[in-house]
Amino acid sequence: MMEAKTPSESMAIMTDLVLPSETNPLNNLFGGELLARMDRAASIAARRHSRRITVTASVNHVAFNKTVPLGSVLTVEAKISRAFRTSMEVYLDVWIEDRFSGERSKANEAIYTFVAVDDTGIPTEVPPIKPETSLEKERFAGALRRKQLSLVLAGKMNPHDATELKALFTD
Ligand SMILES: CC(C)(COP(=O)(O)OP(=O)(O)OC[C@H]1O[C@@H](n2cnc3c(N)ncnc32)[C@H](O)[C@@H]1OP(=O)(O)O)[C@@H](O)C(=O)NCCC(=O)NCCS
Repeated sequence: MMEAKTPSESMAIMTDLVLPSETNPLNNLFGGELLARMDRAASIAARRHSRRITVTASVNHVAFNKTVPLGSVLTVEAKISRAFRTSMEVYLDVWIEDRFSGERSKANEAIYTFVAVDDTGIPTEVPPIKPETSLEKERFAGALRRKQLSLVLAGKMNPHDATELKALFTD
C-alpha cells in the first residue's frame, strides 16, 4: 500500500486574467475556456498526487453559476478530494477578485475525474488521500457515490451495484 498524502500536498492554484479572445459576445468568459483552465489545474493536482501521467476520465459536475467579466483576475484551485485505485476525484473551486477591494468571491465549482496511467496508457495505482479539513472530509465522504453515478451514466456500472448511490434515495 502506498503512503497516503494530504490534499494540500498536491493542490494546484492557477491565477490568470480573462482576455478578450476568451470571452463571448457579452464580454463574459467563454464556458469552454473555463473548462480548459479547470482541466489544466486539475491535471496538475492529479499529477502531483500520483507522480504519473494523468488523463481526464470524466467531467462529473460543472455549474456555471456566475458570469466572469472581461478583465477579471480568475483563480482556479484544484484539490484531490479522494483517490480510489487508479482514479482521483478532483474538486475545482473558482474565484474572482474584486478590483477595488481585492476580496475574493466564489464564481464556480466543478468536479473532474482523472486516471493515472503508465507510459503505455494503462491505468496504474495511486496513493490514498488523507483529508484534513472539515470541507476535505465532507468532499471525501461524497466521492464514492459521485464515482458510482459517473460510472452508471457512462454505462460502465450496473445501477444495481451502485450501493452508495442507491443509499441516497432509500435511507
Ligand atoms: C480514462 C481511461 C484511462 C479509463 O480506462 P478504462 O478502460 O475505463 O479503465 P478502467 O476500467 O480500469 O478504469 C480506470 C479507473 O477509471 C475509472 N473510470 C473510468 N471511467 C470513468 C468515468 N466515466 N467516471 C468516473 N470514473 C471512471 C474507473 O472506475 C477506474 O477507477 P479505479 O481504478 O480508481 O477504481 C480511458 O478511458 C482513457 O484513456 N480515456 C481517454 C482519456 C483522455 O484522453 N482524456 C482526454 C480526452 S480529450
